[in-house]
Amino acid sequence: MARMLEGKSIIITGAASGIGRAAARLFAEAGARLLICDWNKAGVDETADMVRQAGGEVGTMQVDVSDEAQVKALTEKGVELYGHLDGAYNNAGVQMLNKLTQDLTLDDWHKVNGVNAVGIFLCVKHEIAAMRKSGRGAIVNTASANGVVAQAYSTEYVASKHAVIGITRGAASEAIETGVRVNCVLPGMINTPMIVDLVNNPEFRPHYDSALARHTVGRFGEPEDVAYVARFLLSDQAAFMNAAAVAVDGGYTAR
Ligand SMILES: NC(=O)c1ccc[n+]([C@@H]2O[C@H](COP(=O)([O-])OP(=O)(O)OC[C@H]3O[C@@H](n4cnc5c(N)ncnc54)[C@H](O)[C@@H]3O)[C@@H](O)[C@H]2O)c1
Repeated sequence: MARMLEGKSIIITGAASGIGRAAARLFAEAGARLLICDWNKAGVDETADMVRQAGGEVGTMQVDVSDEAQVKALTEKGVELYGHLDGAYNNAGVQMLNKLTQDLTLDDWHKVNGVNAVGIFLCVKHEIAAMRKSGRGAIVNTASANGVVAQAYSTEYVASKHAVIGITRGAASEAIETGVRVNCVLPGMINTPMIVDLVNNPEFRPHYDSALARHTVGRFGEPEDVAYVARFLLSDQAAFMNAAAVAVDGGYTAR
């Protein structure tokens, strides 16, 4: 039986760590040829070493997804490396700032939305332009459970993740013209460096038990839990999925 992503050329952003690193490993295992990027060069090189040691094919690039010229160069490199681009997993993101809304500065707003919302927009824009040339492609964006529900001390983050769902649905609505399916995943709390920072924040500690209780499978997620779903959405098995916002949250958003 052919592997799920056999021969597909796929970009992954935010691949230095957490969910992006797990995706690189699992996509390569499924036969994808990768171009992985992050603004953390050492981290993305380390991920690439892991992929190569497991026999995978991978190129790397240092990219700040909030910079349009760098994002354009990323998609161009994907096409240059593999002849065309089949898929992209836009996963790079920064965490919430744990401030009351009244204390957020405009700089705070731009710091989070510049990566989580603008970065996703720029990636989707340039990836569709590249994929359109071959008339087909699939994109998955990482939103969050915070794309459909909210919590205190994270207005800038909640807004950025609601935006990811909006960008996904907007771009997906053009699939009839572009041939590119666009979906997003909505992770609950996933054990990555991002959550470790949050859990170690004294302001979050009192909310820890109630957050865990809302993950009704009885645990927080692992990076692979999300990467498996992104991998499926990028595969031809998901050919009838477009504009979907798929919860990967252990039941969090049901309560
Ligand atoms: N961990 C969670 O509980 C959780 C929950 C919901 C959504 N998410 C989302 O999942 C995605 C991955 O996060 P993670 O949990 O793996 O965290 P992580 O911090 O381990 O990984 C995020 C990666 O994105 C990179 N990055 C950040 N800004 C960037 C930029 N401007 N350009 C390029 N790379 C950049 C970081 O260097 C890092 O490698 C994020 O979009 C995050 O918002 C995470």
